[in-house]
Amino acid sequence: MRRKLGRKMAIMLIMIVILLLSVSCDKNNNGQIHETAKKSNEKISTNTDVDYINKKILIIYYSAANLNDVDAVSSATAVGDGDGATGTFAKYIHDRIGGVVDRIIPDEDYPLDYDHILERAKKEKNAREYPGFSLTTNPEDYDIIFVGYPIWSYDMPRVMYTFFARYDFEGKTIIPFNTYGSSLDGGTYDKIRELEPDADVVDGLAIEGKSIDSSKKYVEQWVPEL
Ligand SMILES: Cc1cc2nc3c(=O)[nH]c(=O)nc-3n(C[C@H](O)[C@H](O)[C@H](O)COP(=O)(O)O)c2cc1C
Repeated sequence: MRRKLGRKMAIMLIMIVILLLSVSCDKNNNGQIHETAKKSNEKISTNTDVDYINKKILIIYYSAANLNDVDAVSSATAVGDGDGATGTFAKYIHDRIGGVVDRIIPDEDYPLDYDHILERAKKEKNAREYPGFSLTTNPEDYDIIFVGYPIWSYDMPRVMYTFFARYDFEGKTIIPFNTYGSSLDGGTYDKIRELEPDADVVDGLAIEGKSIDSSKKYVEQWVPEL
């Protein structure tokens, strides 16, 4: 009798241990899935807070255009002279929502090779420069302004600081978007909120530059079709 009871207790104990182990495994798996989803931008919520109806929409972007596949620590892989990763991102937004697309053209060309453009970007960043640029449109004529840029040295390229300093965005909606090598948004959305306290700066979307060709689906989840 005692023996039977002991065996039953032992079986129950083993079952409890198995149960506890499976719960903790589940937790780990969920954690990993969440991280992977975050990294690959699979968990994107559509920005339902923005009212796009009857609003004038502008999609502004800056892109080095010739350095698609680089990051701050690796060497450059130049990819032609098209629209660049950020320009492609801008096109995806336009395909979805319409509006006007305009590209920030710096007054001075940047070098084409990675080492030199990085050197120049760092110099501009350290000296807090405000490089000049031109646009075809006046962003102040629009209600909703998508603003796109690549991450440079863990930040926005300095020409974007000139952009935010030049225009009055009070009462406007700013929607940031960016491409990167590894830094995601690099804290730049919060930085834009600091630069534009009188605008409504909503959560942006960051896409890895080298994955841009296969990333249209993420943009389609992010902005509604108009
Ligand atoms: C000068 C320079 C600095 C960069 N610094 C970073 C960085 O700090 N973090 C990062 O994730 N990517 C960095 N990148 C990679 C770019 O953000 C990425 O390749 C981007 O998709 C390029 O976009 P584009 O083709 O529109 O110019 C850097 C690229 C350049 C040219």
